[in-house]
Amino acid sequence: MNWIEIDRNICNSCGLCVKRCPRCFSRFDDRIIVTANENTCNLCGHCISLCPASAVTHSQMSMKSFVPFKKDVVFALNDFLQFIKQRRSHRHFEKTQIPRTDMEILIDICRWAPTGSNVQTVEILVIENKERIELLSSLTIDFFRFTLDEVEKKVRKMESEGKEIPEDLQLMLSVYDYRKRLVEARDSGLDPIFHRAPAVIIFHSPVLTSTPKDNCVIAAHTMALTARNMGLESCYIGLFEAAFRGSQEIRDNLGLPVGHKVYSVLILGYPLLKFRTSVDRKPVKTRWE
Ligand SMILES: Cc1cc2nc3c(=O)[nH]c(=O)nc-3n(C[C@H](O)[C@H](O)[C@H](O)COP(=O)(O)O)c2cc1C
Ligand code: SF4
Ligand code: SF4
Repeated sequence: MNWIEIDRNICNSCGLCVKRCPRCFSRFDDRIIVTANENTCNLCGHCISLCPASAVTHSQMSMKSFVPFKKDVVFALNDFLQFIKQRRSHRHFEKTQIPRTDMEILIDICRWAPTGSNVQTVEILVIENKERIELLSSLTIDFFRFTLDEVEKKVRKMESEGKEIPEDLQLMLSVYDYRKRLVEARDSGLDPIFHRAPAVIIFHSPVLTSTPKDNCVIAAHTMALTARNMGLESCYIGLFEAAFRGSQEIRDNLGLPVGHKVYSVLILGYPLLKFRTSVDRKPVKTRWE
């Protein structure tokens, strides 16, 4: 089945569709030929969006989504750069819940984050229930406590046997103190995982898809930057991602669809702290060729 139809009465043969998408479009003299199907077309929508005559119709996409842009929006460069530089990881939040309508805007904008081969397979789990967030935080710390005990046991045994500590254990030892402090923080009544944020956003995806991690991280950062524009701030929580990978209990608790993994996690909320200055960052090592 051919997914695309060209309205021959209005097509002006400009060839833009052929230039953009030679996999699906070709030209014979003045006639444009199109064969778009599941083997050739990844539903990017470019041919429809580019066509100056609005002559292209796609059967697998909602044509109502192709709304003309009235103008190009450009932000003053310095404002835009400051907006990016002003983003900080926030770990102190007001108790206020994020209105559902705002959450919906933040989820919706992720649809426009790019995905490898346009697979659009990123899914989002929003957790706003305080007790549930506390439970997941607790399970994460329990997991770290367990892995700390295991590492400690292994290292002690190897040392007593005069064996050299292998690289993977050495790596675990390098984060040992940090994770130990997390356990201590929880024991003193803090939430060192989700920082008592009003919302935890979990980006997950089937493992067997194009670039799952990249897709989730790009969606997460799209959300994080949009949230800044709505008075919200965020922080990535890689610790929970690590615990998800290692703990069957957390995986069972989240109940993601079979074959899915967590690839990015954000906490979101109204910030209690205001950063007054920019911060120092190392220059990006760059090689020009
Ligand atoms: C992938 C990723 C994972 C992170 N995981 C955590 C985390 O688990 N807990 C936390 O408090 N901060 C976490 N952070 C925040 C970093 O510590 C923070 O981005 C870094 O210190 C720089 O600070 P800035 O975001 O304010 O510029 C993470 C950041 C990234 C990019
Ligand atoms: S871009 Fe539109 S007008 Fe141009 S050749 Fe393709 S279908 Fe015809
Ligand atoms: S939607 Fe994208 S991949 Fe499909 S025919 Fe149009 S340009 Fe080609």
